[in-house]
Amino acid sequence: MLNDSQLTALKGHTPAYVFEIAALKERVLFLRSMLPKRVRLCYAVKANPFLVRELHDLVDCLEICSPGELRICDSLGSDHEKYVLSGVYKDPALFSARIRQGDTAGVFTAESLSQLQLLQDASSAAGVCLKVLLRLTSGNQFGMSKEDVESAVANMASYDALSFDGIQFFSGTQKTSFRKVKRELESVDFFLKKLYDTYNYKAHTLEFGPGFAVSYFESESYDEEEFLARFSEALGAMEFDGQVTLEMGRAITASCGSYLTKVVDTKSNQSGNFAIVDGGMHQLVYYGQVMAMKHPHVTLFPAREASSDQYWTICGSLCTINDLLVKQLPAKDLQTGDLLIFEKTGAYCMTEGIALFLTRDLPEILLQEEDGHLKVVRRRFETSTLNCPDYEHCEEL
Ligand SMILES: Cc1ncc(COP(=O)(O)O)c(C=O)c1O
Repeated sequence: MLNDSQLTALKGHTPAYVFEIAALKERVLFLRSMLPKRVRLCYAVKANPFLVRELHDLVDCLEICSPGELRICDSLGSDHEKYVLSGVYKDPALFSARIRQGDTAGVFTAESLSQLQLLQDASSAAGVCLKVLLRLTSGNQFGMSKEDVESAVANMASYDALSFDGIQFFSGTQKTSFRKVKRELESVDFFLKKLYDTYNYKAHTLEFGPGFAVSYFESESYDEEEFLARFSEALGAMEFDGQVTLEMGRAITASCGSYLTKVVDTKSNQSGNFAIVDGGMHQLVYYGQVMAMKHPHVTLFPAREASSDQYWTICGSLCTINDLLVKQLPAKDLQTGDLLIFEKTGAYCMTEGIALFLTRDLPEILLQEEDGHLKVVRRRFETSTLNCPDYEHCEEL
């Protein structure tokens, strides 16, 4: 929790994200307490790479979906045994080089038969054996069809440099329908049984992305505890009795994050009261939000009375009328210098926002240590260097 003197100090740092480590740890413990003991947790790094170090020892593995995430995890000294190297495109040069260097710890996902062949060829050439998860598609560009997975399993002997660890399945995020998740679990369970009955292949691991939802908006009534209890029951009802690993991001990190932005101007006109803040929609991603139609959880510092006759439209500082963060926020005497604290912003805001929108600076990122102290882990970053031609270092092709 940020105290009043910290919030006052943070007015000089906006826009900024603050991630509370104590809340993050509590969250992991909560998830573990709600899930069956046999379940392993895999953290999807894409949700928030700034928390990899804090989560490293709290989770069983790290799902890494891009060369950039891999560089981050490597640079933080992460245990490679924890890596689940995924990605719909695996750069052959990068993967071959990594495997050639003997960096084969962890597990690699195969999203197509050609990716499987790439992994086989690279590990065969390096004389190593790679652990592989076959990604089963849910009907989009990710993963393989059931037929392709079956063909891989049927021809397992020809992949002699690979060890098939099991199946990976992820169909989408922010799932609030338990029935849908249950149907998916049942369908994967049925498929695993078929692999055993037909090909005598017993998967060791099911790496399942449940896409657990986060309740982002005031009007939502999502009962997470009930959802998790029912999900655990459905896991228990599966015939598959191997290792279940839950791959997730949002449900782990969203709740520990706050996005802080400051009112820099106020005005009123025929359409109402407007407050301009120094952040914007390029730094705030709430899944399911469109043009501020829904009210996110946001608090004001200093607190302002929720007057029923003074409403504010909160706008960011981008040059577009679409830059709306909250509509009709009730607040008496909102003033320049007031801080808005957007809650549950610990996942995807800093990785999925249109961060480079019209050459705005990237926000500062702070971690709040468990003893309450704040630590800046990324200073405000000017993106003009990224949105500018570099004539000094350009080369003729
Ligand atoms: C393969 C895979 N696993 C896990 C996740 C994490 O999903 P969530 O944040 O909903 O838990 C994603 C998100 O895109 C994903 O693509």
